[in-house]
Amino acid sequence: MKSIGVFTSGGDAPGMNACVRSVVRSALSLGIDVYGIKYGYNGMIEGDIYKMKSYSVSNIVQRGGTILKSARSKEFTTPEGRKRAYEQLSKRGIEGLVAIGGDGTLTGANIFYEEFGIPTVGCPGTIDNDLFGTDYTIGFNTAINTALDAIDKIRDTANSHDRVFFIEVMGRHSGYIAINCGIGGGAELVMVPETSTTIEDVIQTLQTGRDRQKTSSIVIVAEGDVQGNAHEIAGKVSKQVPELDIRVTTLGHIQRGGDPSAFDRILASRMGLAAVEGLINGEKNVLVGIVNDRVQYTNFKLAISKSKPLNPDLLRLVDILNI
Ligand code: F6P
Repeated sequence: MKSIGVFTSGGDAPGMNACVRSVVRSALSLGIDVYGIKYGYNGMIEGDIYKMKSYSVSNIVQRGGTILKSARSKEFTTPEGRKRAYEQLSKRGIEGLVAIGGDGTLTGANIFYEEFGIPTVGCPGTIDNDLFGTDYTIGFNTAINTALDAIDKIRDTANSHDRVFFIEVMGRHSGYIAINCGIGGGAELVMVPETSTTIEDVIQTLQTGRDRQKTSSIVIVAEGDVQGNAHEIAGKVSKQVPELDIRVTTLGHIQRGGDPSAFDRILASRMGLAAVEGLINGEKNVLVGIVNDRVQYTNFKLAISKSKPLNPDLLRLVDILNI
C-alpha cells in the first residue's frame, strides 16, 4: 500500500486531532503517502482532499475539534454519492482509508467497502462510548470530565437554594456519559435509555432523599431517555410535586469541545498507529479497539450491529451511593 486517506466524520470528539496526527506520522514513518479528506464523506465526494506532511499535524495533539472538519453526509447514503467518492479516491491513487468517527461513520465505511472494496480501518471517535469492540472511544473521557466540571458547579447553586436540578447530558441511544457523570458527580438518580425509570421512580427517589435530610438533588438524564428530555421529565415531576423547586440544565455541545484529556490523547495516538499497521497487515473493514489494554480489530458489521451494554455494576453503584 503506497497511499492512504484519513478523515473525521459525524459528531466531532476531543482527541480526533491526536488520532489524525498519529495516522499521518505513522504512515509517513512507513513510507506511505497520506491524504487528508476534509468534511468527512462530503469532502470525499467533492474531492476536498490534500496531501499531508508531517508539519500538517504539528501542534494539534492537544487541540479539541478536528483540523479535517467533520460532517454528517446525506449524499454518501446514495449510490451516486458513493460512486463519486470512489472516483475521487481512484483519481489520486488512494488505496486504503482510515475513518475516524462513530457508528454512522462505520456504517458508511462498511457499505463503501462492500461496493468498492477499498480497505478501510475505523478508529472509534465519538464522545458516546457506544461502540462494540473497544472499551473506550476517543473523546468519551474528556466529555465526562467536561460534564462533571459543569455538574459540580450546578451542585453548588442547587445546594445554596435547596433545589432539584435535572441535568441533561448527551447520548441518544446510550447512557454511558450519563451513568459515569452520575457516579462521578454524586447524582441522586440517573436516567438512561437502557433502563426504564418511571416518573414515579423519580418522585420516590427525590422523596427518599428529602426524608434523609437531603435539601438538594441532582438527576442526570441521558438525552435519549424514554421519558423524554430533561425539560419534559422535569415538567412531569413538577406537575405531580409542585412544591419542589426545580431547574433544568442541558449541557449540550459543550461536551463535545475542549482540549482532550491525557487519556484521550494517548488512546487516540495508539489507535491511529494501530489503524495504519492494520491496513499494512491486510486488515480491511474493521474497527480498531483497545480492549483490556490490547489492540483488537472488530469487523465493522459486528461493531455496528452489536450494542455495548452498560455495565450493570455502574447502575447498581448509583443506587447504592445515593442513600
Ligand atoms: O457525537 C454524538 C452525539 O454527541 C450524540 O450524543 C448527540 O445526540 C449528537 O451527537 C448530536 O449531534 P449534532 O451535533 O449533529 O446535533
